[in-house]
Amino acid sequence: MKVLSLVAAAALPLLASAHFTLDYPYTRGFDEDLEPQFCGGFNTPSSSRTPYPLSGSAPLLIDSHHPTADVAVLISFDQNPTNFSAFNQTSEGQGYGLLKPFGRINGQGEFCFNVDIASLGINGLQNGSVATIQVEFNGGDGALFQCSDIVLVSNYSAPSNITCSNATSSASASSGPSQTASGSMGNPSQTGSPNSGAGRVVVGAVVGAVAAAAGVALAL
Ligand SMILES: *[C@@H]1O[C@H](CO)[C@@H](O)[C@H](O)[C@H]1NC(C)=O
Ligand SMILES: *[C@@H]1O[C@H](CO)[C@@H](O)[C@H](O)[C@H]1NC(C)=O
Ligand SMILES: *[C@@H]1O[C@H](CO)[C@@H](O)[C@H](O)[C@H]1NC(C)=O
Ligand SMILES: *[C@@H]1O[C@H](CO)[C@@H](O)[C@H](O)[C@H]1NC(C)=O
Ligand SMILES: *[C@@H]1O[C@H](CO)[C@@H](O)[C@H](O)[C@H]1NC(C)=O
Ligand SMILES: *[C@@H]1O[C@H](CO)[C@@H](O)[C@H](O)[C@H]1NC(C)=O
Repeated sequence: MKVLSLVAAAALPLLASAHFTLDYPYTRGFDEDLEPQFCGGFNTPSSSRTPYPLSGSAPLLIDSHHPTADVAVLISFDQNPTNFSAFNQTSEGQGYGLLKPFGRINGQGEFCFNVDIASLGINGLQNGSVATIQVEFNGGDGALFQCSDIVLVSNYSAPSNITCSNATSSASASSGPSQTASGSMGNPSQTGSPNSGAGRVVVGAVVGAVAAAAGVALAL
């Protein structure tokens, strides 16, 4: 009985389950299954922080695997933020808002947002101050998170290979979730290949769906 319900349940989330990656500044870590957790399940700051502009427009790149999503960017100025409270006030008690308010994106692929940390008006930030950016992404099936640990540098520009542009074509969205799903069902052996872009997405979706279905089955 449980096996049957698991298979039936797996078919539904397979169509909707996907994720996003934080491509710049570089993510703390990515694990599809843990992405619903605070900082995407990675609870320790990176040992090497990405240099990031202390002031002025700075690019933030994500890759969306949902047809549409709501995206916001939070920031903490703690060395090791451990909860969301650290993302709306400093350790000195200064409150502030989101680095980027929630906004809808349409289409799959790379999206770039320009953010300006100085616009938050945080007291005492200077060259060498640390921060952690947390991206919240909701593609319709719950909030997902990714964190990046950064060090703020004056007069810094992102590396030249970081191009700030959006995916424009909706072609990727029309490649169809059912194709992806059937392809993945036929190729469970691809589970171990982290390097193929498409394979990664598909395998991730299957793992996510099975995890979700297992959750459902356990809850029954
Ligand atoms: C959040 O974390 C800080 C320290 O990291 C702690 O002092 C505070 O109590 C926590 N707040 C909540 C609501 O858990
Ligand atoms: C700050 O974040 C915490 C935890 O999410 C929340 O309880 C609190 O209301 C927030 N405060 C402000 C001023 O937004
Ligand atoms: C800012 O800090 C970096 C190292 O983090 C250093 O290389 C640079 O010289 C500093 N710039 C200024 C203006 O102090
Ligand atoms: C930033 O660059 C400008 C010129 O581009 C320079 O005048 C200024 O001193 C620099 N500031 C720092 C802190 O390096
Ligand atoms: C940009 O170049 C760095 C090394 O210089 C590399 O680690 C990174 O993957 C490249 N691409 C992006 C999108 O960051
Ligand atoms: C990409 O699209 C989002 C959402 O429409 C927008 O906020 C952002 O400014 C766009 N980025 C660029 C580089 O045009």
